[in-house]
Amino acid sequence: MPLDRLTFQGLRNLQALDFRPGPRINLLTGANGSGKTSLLEGIYILGMGRSFRTRQLRHVIAHDAEALMLHGRLAGDPPVPFGVRRHRDAPELEMRLAGERIARISRLVETLPLQLINPDAFRLLEGPPAGRREFLDWGVFHVKHDFLDVWQRARRALKHRNALLRHGRMHDGSLPAWEQELVHWSERLDGLRRAWMEAFLPVFEETLTGLLPLPELRLRYSRGWDRRRELAEILRQGRESDRQMGFTQQGPQRADLGIRFGRRPAVEVLSRGQQKLVVSALKLAQGRLLEASTGRTCVYLIDDLPAELDSEHRRVFCDWLERMHCQVFITSVDHDALVDLWQAETPVAMFHVKRSNSGEGQLLPLDRQTSRRSSQ
Ligand SMILES: Nc1ncnc2c1ncn2[C@@H]1O[C@H](COP(=O)(O)OP(=O)(O)O)[C@@H](O)[C@H]1O
Ligand SMILES: [Mg+2]
Repeated sequence: MPLDRLTFQGLRNLQALDFRPGPRINLLTGANGSGKTSLLEGIYILGMGRSFRTRQLRHVIAHDAEALMLHGRLAGDPPVPFGVRRHRDAPELEMRLAGERIARISRLVETLPLQLINPDAFRLLEGPPAGRREFLDWGVFHVKHDFLDVWQRARRALKHRNALLRHGRMHDGSLPAWEQELVHWSERLDGLRRAWMEAFLPVFEETLTGLLPLPELRLRYSRGWDRRRELAEILRQGRESDRQMGFTQQGPQRADLGIRFGRRPAVEVLSRGQQKLVVSALKLAQGRLLEASTGRTCVYLIDDLPAELDSEHRRVFCDWLERMHCQVFITSVDHDALVDLWQAETPVAMFHVKRSNSGEGQLLPLDRQTSRRSSQ
């Protein structure tokens, strides 16, 4: 379901806004520093409970505001309102969904599946495994219903084992029991991830071939523990070494998505431009698989598209977005780079983020045909 209304207050430099996005493609243009990325950041916080620019949400609160308030509404019958609020002096994020307070961020994530493509996106390839694990688990979470429960149980067992080892309680009677629990849920988790990967791979390969054929590129899931050994044995034999390290060294918490080109890690071989295309293909494939397997669509946030892709690849990329049924928010400083990419029948809504002399950003709708600011 697309977002049909967004009301934001206290978000960085943006004036309070009440925004009616279009159901499909939304183009947001404006000068540097007008607030385009902040707008995407607002949508991201609504769906993820955190920012992609800072670890500390209070940095997102406008300097002169007491709180950040973000509300969204999913189109539907009835529509689904949801929102988050972060007060300057309160550490926690208040979250609401369909009129009720909620405690878990996973409820937001479930409500608003999001994919972000921004200038940092290539870090998915070159950064630490945590980012790739998150990418993988996003897919599994949205497609496999029991994922969250299984993941939480595995994590709970892992925490207990780590705590026992750290406190030197190696001979505590509960250690084997927690290890057994950890093995059980880790194997379930591995099974879910593996099944999702099997469905994801062909979708990814097809998407990538359309963007940039790289037949030698391989994605490989690794479960986080030695391929030739049982986790139970690894844990039992690794107690002393895990105790010295202070944590469990193998298990599903170490799973990764290896991205290789031929025999080498893709980051060592591919150009930055090629890396961006691979990441774009990964993220498009996530949305395509979500649509194909659940009928749900995800919202794409694409920051500074022209900086990410050259004009030829931009066209193929937008072609995929058009073929999907997803809602998209795309920003650029350059209006002309975005307008001619779409088929006449695709609904395109255009907005301009205007920066005032004092630095405040204001969101204004633009008329598609004339590309001039509408009288509203
Ligand atoms: N907490 C804040 N309160 C007010 N303004 C902020 C805050 N954080 C950043 N800004 C300002 O918001 C402006 C918008 O930034 P940004 O969204 O990155 O613009 P764009 O993506 O359009 O280039 C910047 O000028 C920045 O200085
Ligand atoms: Mg920006």
